[in-house]
Amino acid sequence: MQLIDGKAVSKAVKEQVKAECELLKEKGITPGLAVIIVGDDPASQVYVRNKEKACEECGFYSVKYALPAETTQDELNALVDRLNADERINGILCQLPLPKHLDDKEVINRIATIKDVDAFHPVNVGAIMIGEYNFLPCTPAGIMELIHSTGTDLTGKKAVVIGRSNIVGKPMAMLLLHENATVEITHSKTVDLKEITKSADILVAAVGRAKFVTADMVKDGAVVIDVGMNRDENGKLCGDVDFDNVKDKCSFITPVPGGVGPMTIAMLMRNTLTAAKLQNNIK
Ligand code: GUN
Repeated sequence: MQLIDGKAVSKAVKEQVKAECELLKEKGITPGLAVIIVGDDPASQVYVRNKEKACEECGFYSVKYALPAETTQDELNALVDRLNADERINGILCQLPLPKHLDDKEVINRIATIKDVDAFHPVNVGAIMIGEYNFLPCTPAGIMELIHSTGTDLTGKKAVVIGRSNIVGKPMAMLLLHENATVEITHSKTVDLKEITKSADILVAAVGRAKFVTADMVKDGAVVIDVGMNRDENGKLCGDVDFDNVKDKCSFITPVPGGVGPMTIAMLMRNTLTAAKLQNNIK
């Protein structure tokens, strides 16, 4: 078994983004990212802090809007409108989940498609379907980078995705399909899940349940990608995969932490750079 080092792969992506950012700066362009966070969810605060740090590492301009939990939909919409019109801002990200009284769909639909660095807007989601996209959703795109780092050719391979969320499962399946894998999406209502996961050459677990994928569910020599970020019975950070038991069965596996997590942020940086280039007509 070999570990897939998400920290190393993400560092390489960020260094490439930084180098391209320096070239843009010579043309007088500094990529700018605005991050909106509403309320005080501790996990979201950590994610947002890491996004700001990555912007600094890459040489981007970044602004954080930390809004109180009582913010109204109108106030949030007005901020998005202002950022849509702000020329210094190339990318807009509204950290999810939002407090219950706010509608995340309304916010996502309001972000200008050309500034939608999460690729959550329906127009960008549709573009991914037909393979004509500007932005790829950060987590699935980061996972593709991790798979590429193993040297795996996906053509003709069986890929199984556990989870069907709009953020990870569904777009993940599409990206695997674009690279000629035979893809199966499974979920909580799937019958005989184990029989399906055991057929996977590439297994992506995005379930949100600690140590859900056990060794008997994994094919010998599989590439296992763990998108989970959970706490185990002792409060320790763990993924959706029972790492200690699964690791000896697979050819490659991502650790938690240090696997998929750092990649999501690196791909956000890449999308922000892409947004800056698009908005300035640079190829
Ligand atoms: N919350 C959890 N993951 C994400 C993400 O990728 N983007 C945003 N905006 N919110 C999230």
